[in-house]
Amino acid sequence: MYWESYNHSKIKKVIFNALEQNLDYRHKPVLGLPASYLDTEVFYHDAPFLKDAPFLSAMIANPNHIGCHTLNESETAFEGTQKIEAELIDLCAKEIFKGDENHYDGYVASGGTEANIQAIWILKRYYEQEYNAKADEIALIYTEDAHYSMPKAGSLLSLERIVLPVDKETRAISTQSIEVVEQAKKAGKKYFIVVLNMGTTMFGSVDDVEEVTNWLDNLTLNYKIHIDGAFGGYIYPFANPDSKMTFQHPKINSFTLDGHKMLQSPYGTGIYITREGYMDYALTEEANYVKGKDYTLIGSRSGANAIAVWMIMRTYGSEGWKMKINRLLDKTQRLCDQLNEMGIEFYHHPYMNIVTIKSNYIDPRVAKDFMLVPDTHDAHPKWYKIVVMDHVTQGLLDRFISELRSQVVA
Ligand SMILES: Cc1ncc(COP(=O)(O)O)c(C=O)c1O
Repeated sequence: MYWESYNHSKIKKVIFNALEQNLDYRHKPVLGLPASYLDTEVFYHDAPFLKDAPFLSAMIANPNHIGCHTLNESETAFEGTQKIEAELIDLCAKEIFKGDENHYDGYVASGGTEANIQAIWILKRYYEQEYNAKADEIALIYTEDAHYSMPKAGSLLSLERIVLPVDKETRAISTQSIEVVEQAKKAGKKYFIVVLNMGTTMFGSVDDVEEVTNWLDNLTLNYKIHIDGAFGGYIYPFANPDSKMTFQHPKINSFTLDGHKMLQSPYGTGIYITREGYMDYALTEEANYVKGKDYTLIGSRSGANAIAVWMIMRTYGSEGWKMKINRLLDKTQRLCDQLNEMGIEFYHHPYMNIVTIKSNYIDPRVAKDFMLVPDTHDAHPKWYKIVVMDHVTQGLLDRFISELRSQVVA
């Protein structure tokens, strides 16, 4: 894993060059596009600070990245910034997920939800087109700790959902899952879209891809795997160089990453990445007015979002990002050590920055004061989670621990 870190002046040069290659509504005779630069009354383009602010300049220029820019043909009006998006997808596929010299496709989606739905949609179309599968022969498999975008996708795409139970302490996929899937096979399901987690929302748990593929292979199933790394994608592969969730695994077809979580990029920076050839299954032929047609769920989307993610990754470089992740993990470990000393039970995956504490150890008032997130807002929560993000300082954690020391209720 390696990508170079760029200084501010290099970043500025790359982005402003890209913006220059884009269509400029001020200087080109643009009669046909239903769009323009941002409203000049509110977002004036001659603000002096803009010359040092490549992201804000991109926002104001307002490039539309409709379509998919890792494929051959795209809308030419914004090809400068589209190239940056293509570089970003390649960087993520090869450096984060160990892709080889092959080509990978993908795009910057509205968020993790869209990226997951896109992945499931593509695999559904793959089975329909390659195997003539009917929707009721395809099942969507995910774990009970998976994000709610999976049931959302199942509902949207009319796929039967198979929810794999997990062990309540280790959060590992339980062996009962094998029977659940076997039953579905007996009931006539022939094709399986399997979503595994690289960091679940509530626990940060990471599924064991080798174990799951072993038992899926033993059942002789026709399946493909999508990895939901919306939360963990920018942390787990950096913390665990031996991660098995990579493009080196032949069954893994695609990944979701989410810039607007760990990377602290603006909302609207989910990322979908897949192996070459799969984007084609999401082609919407009828997108005739878009050059190169559309392969994404979203339609129009801001090119500034791709630039934001690219800028953050390029500012840190791979080594800088690893250092940042290690600092967060050290802080997380220190919190875990203190909880252990106090005899408080919790779940923590060693390569993740989430600590999920059993609710009986936390006074609900403390949970509220420190804005811990419960596993449910409806009934009595069983768990509260802490996510050690950039703003979670050691001082804040110390305050939380001293509050816990005086108010442990278990
Ligand atoms: C594991 C996981 N997947 C998907 C998502 C959905 O991401 P978004 O809210 O960006 O749509 C989340 C959000 O928390 C998540 O934690």
